[in-house]
Amino acid sequence: MCGIFGIITNQDTISVGNIVFEGIKRLEYRGYDSCGIVSLSNSKLYLKKDSGKIDEIQRKINLAEIPNNSKLALAHTRWATHGAPTKINSHPHLDCHNKIAVVHNGIIENFLELRKELTQNGHIFRSETDTEVIPHLIESQMKKGLNFKDSVIESLKLLKGAYGLAVCQVDNPNSIIVARKESPLVIGIDEGKTTYCASDIPAFLPLTKKCYIMDDDELAILKAGEVEFINLLTNEKVKKELRTIEWSIDAAEKGGYEHFMLKEIYEEPTAIRRTLKISKEQLKIFANILWSAENIYITAAGTSFYASLAGKFILTKFLGKYIQAIECSEFQTQLTNSLKKDSVIIAVSQSGETIDTVEAIRWARSYKDVKILTITNVVGSTLTRYSDNVIVTQAGPEIGVAATKTYSTQVLTLALVALEIAKLRKVELESDIVKYERALRSTPQIIENFLKNNIDLIKGIVDTLDKSAQFFFLARGISIATAKEGGLKLKEVACRFIEGYSAAHAKHGPISLVRAGFPIIFIAPPDETYQRLIGNVMEFKARGGKIISLVVESDNVIAELSDLTIKIPQPGDKYHNIFSPITFIPALQLLAYYASLLHGLDPDKPLNLSKTVTVH
Ligand code: AGP
Repeated sequence: MCGIFGIITNQDTISVGNIVFEGIKRLEYRGYDSCGIVSLSNSKLYLKKDSGKIDEIQRKINLAEIPNNSKLALAHTRWATHGAPTKINSHPHLDCHNKIAVVHNGIIENFLELRKELTQNGHIFRSETDTEVIPHLIESQMKKGLNFKDSVIESLKLLKGAYGLAVCQVDNPNSIIVARKESPLVIGIDEGKTTYCASDIPAFLPLTKKCYIMDDDELAILKAGEVEFINLLTNEKVKKELRTIEWSIDAAEKGGYEHFMLKEIYEEPTAIRRTLKISKEQLKIFANILWSAENIYITAAGTSFYASLAGKFILTKFLGKYIQAIECSEFQTQLTNSLKKDSVIIAVSQSGETIDTVEAIRWARSYKDVKILTITNVVGSTLTRYSDNVIVTQAGPEIGVAATKTYSTQVLTLALVALEIAKLRKVELESDIVKYERALRSTPQIIENFLKNNIDLIKGIVDTLDKSAQFFFLARGISIATAKEGGLKLKEVACRFIEGYSAAHAKHGPISLVRAGFPIIFIAPPDETYQRLIGNVMEFKARGGKIISLVVESDNVIAELSDLTIKIPQPGDKYHNIFSPITFIPALQLLAYYASLLHGLDPDKPLNLSKTVTVH
């Protein structure tokens, strides 16, 4: 995944260099191994790019400094796929004569054959990237006499793969051409004055709240303060809805916190409260479809998959049907011969752009007559286009690469659907459903209370575990999802090796690693698995393991057995226990966050990771 940003304006009073620099910085979460800016002025392209993080490059070559009279600029922040993260491979990429510049997010699958053909026709390539074929293709179309727009259109016809791209050309200083296929692209507009393009809305949010969301196979011609859309399949103009973004830029920026990850953990209560307001109608649609379904699957990647595991547990309780959870990358492989028509598939994805999730759903749709229910945090994302029904979680923009508030809102959404099913099926007493609802509605307050009183405790635990490089996160029942997700956070942002596992299963192998002082984090709400979990705690304690437990306030059994204890301020009844994946997770997210700081890492930019994985 990469980030692209572009601006075209007719205003003399604004500094294009600063705007494009700030814009691309707000997209740094999408990739941060190299960055570049191209500006156009006096019929010439001015290119600045290098490898490294944006601030480092800024210090080195002052990216933001571009010719004063520039009214057009494009920028890119890269997460390498084809070619190492070097200066030469960083974007923008130019044609042979430095007249065309392209920034691109996605992968051109047939770039090798295109490159070979272009090379045979005399084009000189400078980088190892797939992207570089694009400016050369446009160059060769223009050489044939086509105008800028038609050259881009004809070039796009030759590409196989995914792209969100922006192009400028020196003889067309009044326009930027952008196009989208399977990689996100949004257009911001200050009518009559300035137009922006970006991979994500926060990039231009401080500048305008008016935007268009591009669809696949669309091209747009951006002029200062105006935009025209063309459907690439029909070649016809498209009239698109101008949307007003309700988020404030504060929601998209750090707002006083040292890192986005910390800010987003603190935003969990608000995100949950907003998501609790999802319309009953939408929940009922999901509930009815699931109630009448014969075969139900749930699919996702990473954190969204762990949210799905927790959600599946809650859904199954109230639905009384088996739900199969399959990682999206395995979906097609596992179901090629067994996916039945009339199946219902729940797809969960924060971004709605994860390629494996999108592909699983696309495959399922084309293969069988199935229904797709999507839960995502991003309106208009690719996944939503392949879905019969969509619920958008109300987490707000999540910038930290490690998912935090989107996890809790995904579990919450699945829980809300589950409670709607409970009402339909009437298998629970009405008074019980009321208590479950009350417990679910109390989750933001529980998290707020926890955050208020436990930061020093978490920091202290992190200090104590300073030297530990390996951890087990163990649990039973629904809390296995919490163990896996809590462990994933520590792995991602603190670079510790962890195994998130079933506590019972752990004695069938993993326990052999335990030596004196080996840290084991037990997630232990007092649900139906609690008594047996005590046995598991004893097993690991007997082998010298350092026991860290996550329990409810009133716990005094596992807490007593533990070396260190984190107490979540919530009742230990069945109504609250089932929603513990929501209330217990912030403690583990914070543990990971402070461990990351202790090890001198940047929790917002975990090594080798990207916020949205758009490659297989
Ligand atoms: C979460 O911390 C990770 N960055 C990653 O596992 C992520 O959850 C996964 O890539 C799925 O992304 P999605 O929810 O946008 O589909």
